[in-house]
Amino acid sequence: MTREELLRVDGLTKDFVTEGTFTFGKGKGVNRAVDHVSFVLGRSETLGILGESGCGKTTLARTVLLLTPPTSGEVTLLGRKLTSLSESDLRGMRRHTGLVFQDPISSLNPRMKVRDIIAEPLEIHDYPKDEIGELVKNAADEVKLSERELERFPHQLSGGQRQRVGIGRAIVSRPEFVVLDEPTSSLDISVQAQILNLLLDMQADLKISFLFISHNINVVRYMSDRIGVMYVGRIIEIGAATSVMGRPMHPYTRLLIDSIPLFSKRGEFQGRTPARADIEERAGWVSECSFNKRCPYAQDRCRTEEPLLREVEEGHFVACHFAPFTE
Ligand SMILES: Nc1ncnc2c1ncn2[C@@H]1O[C@H](COP(=O)(O)OP(=O)(O)O)[C@@H](O)[C@H]1O
Ligand code: SF4
Ligand SMILES: [Mg+2]
Repeated sequence: MTREELLRVDGLTKDFVTEGTFTFGKGKGVNRAVDHVSFVLGRSETLGILGESGCGKTTLARTVLLLTPPTSGEVTLLGRKLTSLSESDLRGMRRHTGLVFQDPISSLNPRMKVRDIIAEPLEIHDYPKDEIGELVKNAADEVKLSERELERFPHQLSGGQRQRVGIGRAIVSRPEFVVLDEPTSSLDISVQAQILNLLLDMQADLKISFLFISHNINVVRYMSDRIGVMYVGRIIEIGAATSVMGRPMHPYTRLLIDSIPLFSKRGEFQGRTPARADIEERAGWVSECSFNKRCPYAQDRCRTEEPLLREVEEGHFVACHFAPFTE
């Protein structure tokens, strides 16, 4: 089934300039946290982004929403190129978007009541008072917060309730597109399932498109229609969730799925985060496969030529010179 396109991301790149001591001496270094990421997202679709800690997921979340200005690349939402809009037009487009953070404690103002926290994005956009009341009530119903809970402060709520506040705030303006950055990573496993199911129900109800980011393979598999696997700032494999999980073709994705010792019982990565040194070497814009030092199949070509995403099966793209490895 082809869906109507809601969001298009083209060659999105974010460089952070850092001061430090590098292998080539002291000075400024460039950390390319997001490296030429491209994808499309359909209406009511969930694209899961799976990757280890430090691979660039949060930076991707923030640059897609232009909360962090990208170094280069384009983002088009609802047919409008966000990367070319003026500040005020961009502000106007924000009502079509929402962001749910990993940690509801640090993202919710402790001095505000839940009702005001949820209403705040509408206040910022100067919605009329009566409309605000109605929208807050609808959002609270969607995330199953009672009238009583709306009058509380964040510290009076449980972790799960707090994350429902974070979700309510993200959807209060009835956005078509919501980014969820590890929305259940800080929660107990039983509460995680409740929140994931709430998100699925809400999506069916409101027809929202999700960019769902997590380092937990089970959670991404459960939530996503399509999955993109991220490694050192790049998407190295992307396709339908069933093909990426059922027939992974990039050696890194295979490593993630096949090698049980890489995961804890909760399905979280035990693998090492790419060291800063690796990233700094990439900042020299060496042309190579960023996975070559860990890849059991690496050959000379992998050290001199960067593999680009290529459609290996219909709708299933892989950035590896030699995929698929048909035995
Ligand atoms: N504000 C920043 N300034 C400098 N470097 C940053 C900043 N934010 C993130 N980074 C770097 O970008 C890389 C990706 O980080 P992040 O996007 O937080 O990854 P993830 O969410 O996958 O853990 C890391 O190397 C991190 O140190
Ligand atoms: S391009 Fe080479 S190093 Fe990179 S994943 Fe493929 S085989 Fe491994
Ligand atoms: Mg993160």
